[in-house]
Amino acid sequence: MAFRSFHSRILSRLPTISVLTVAAFGRRVTTPTTAIAIRTLNPLSTMASTAMAIDPVPEIAMPPTATAEPAAVPEETPAAAKVPKVQRNPEEAAAAESTVNWNISALPEEVLTRRVPIPLRGVDYRGKIVLAPMVRSGELPARLLALKYGADLVWGPETVDHSLIGTTRRVNPRTGCIEWTRPPSQSHNKAGHEENVIFRIDPSREEGKLVFQIGTSDPDRALAAARLVAADVSGIDVNAGCPKPFSTSGGMGAALLKTPDKLVAILENLTRHIIPEFQIGVSVKIRLLETPTQTEALVRRLVKTGITGLTIHCRTTPMRPRERAIRGQLRMIGYICREAGVACVVNGDVADRADGYRLMNEFKVDGAMIATAAEKNPNVFLPEGQERTQWGTYARELVRFAMVVENKMSNTKFTLSQIVPGREPVYKRMAGPVRSYSELVRLLGFDEGEGGGEMVSMARRTDEILKLGEWEVKREQKGKKGQQQQGNGKKRKSEDELEGKEVKREKVVVVEQPVAQQDAGALAQAV
Ligand SMILES: Cc1cc2nc3c(=O)[nH]c(=O)nc-3n(C[C@H](O)[C@H](O)[C@H](O)COP(=O)(O)O)c2cc1C
Repeated sequence: MAFRSFHSRILSRLPTISVLTVAAFGRRVTTPTTAIAIRTLNPLSTMASTAMAIDPVPEIAMPPTATAEPAAVPEETPAAAKVPKVQRNPEEAAAAESTVNWNISALPEEVLTRRVPIPLRGVDYRGKIVLAPMVRSGELPARLLALKYGADLVWGPETVDHSLIGTTRRVNPRTGCIEWTRPPSQSHNKAGHEENVIFRIDPSREEGKLVFQIGTSDPDRALAAARLVAADVSGIDVNAGCPKPFSTSGGMGAALLKTPDKLVAILENLTRHIIPEFQIGVSVKIRLLETPTQTEALVRRLVKTGITGLTIHCRTTPMRPRERAIRGQLRMIGYICREAGVACVVNGDVADRADGYRLMNEFKVDGAMIATAAEKNPNVFLPEGQERTQWGTYARELVRFAMVVENKMSNTKFTLSQIVPGREPVYKRMAGPVRSYSELVRLLGFDEGEGGGEMVSMARRTDEILKLGEWEVKREQKGKKGQQQQGNGKKRKSEDELEGKEVKREKVVVVEQPVAQQDAGALAQAV
């Protein structure tokens, strides 16, 4: 918590984020383990042979995928005793909770092997350890870092349909990244700013691994937004779990759990159109409802919408991140998904790859998703036994990725502030006015040693392109009055403010400077 509050201090020094891309009580129904015969197939042994190697000098060549194996989920042998299917209505359900054991092993073979077809360009979530969607913490450099360390799939941060609709898709000629941009607000435009990047992907490094997450409360808007990105990603995921007021007040995120008809309509509209048009899958990320009966009823409806995957964040909406995730309903959710042939991914307090496999084994779910542990340390994706790197190494890799893809400075600082241990002296120094990649590289000592010179020249170049440091001539502190007037008279809220944090606003004045030589692919070649 102290760490987080330190962030707010770091972030309070950053320019206002002008675009909003927003970014239980389960009862455990146990199965006598003696009744389940499990043929153990250790997924780690299958992973080890294809594991990537981390070069101590952070050359950013992407490793071969850590999941050459299509599905590393342990197999099961059907148990001798089959559990009869229980026909449940809400009244019966409560009484039945304690007697149904959700024993997946007891399902008939034809159910065990049932699979909603994965579209040609889509991805199967089975056997995968994946990076969770995270506003701010899941921007492109963080996703590339996770992939470098072996994440099997990465989710983009929630992007709200409204903010995507109306954007222009363009390929950045320097980086090869695809960017969905919109013109800057009037006040930013005057200051000479370039277009706002709403969503950015790296089509080569993220190929076949990127799931786009949408924030929506309307089936038609969801479809319109999804169509803008669907050709460039491997899946569309609907956020039905964000509990923050900025999401729920618009009927999005966790609010959809209370309007299941709407959530079903959104998913059906997406599966009906996106799957045939783009040949990728549609999935949903939900939280637990207050009772297993409610969760069961919802999941039974969701799996019939044509989705290929369902992620369950094992917390209820009122639960805070610091509260331990609960697993009481997990076996049941996995069971219902298995019956329907939908891949079930567990999320909430998954510590690392090995922990993900343990949960998949124990609760018979298909994949595992990691958020906060990965936000702090990408080593969580490495196979067990593979040597871990120190924070200095992966912080350097992150900065390098950030420069390569021309990531916004404020986001790079934020992402770094999650990675750099709070006890390090440099952590405090980062909270100071570090306004350019050149300064950042120096501050972190990345200008020294092998590859230091290259980091320095990449930083200079990125600064020039993004108009930072010496290319950003003047920043004027505005008074309170000025703050109110910013944004065409309308106060625009940053994500910090939406989270109730205080944000110091700054006016950015950029004067005309020679634009960086745009020799295509120059930075990309440095990678
Ligand atoms: C910084 C941050 C941003 C998040 N943004 C999103 C988001 O955009 N969409 C979403 O579905 N969940 C979001 N979450 C929730 C995570 O995806 C995940 O469900 C939650 O953190 C629980 O996983 P964990 O216990 O591994 O942290 C966010 C979490 C964090 C910490």
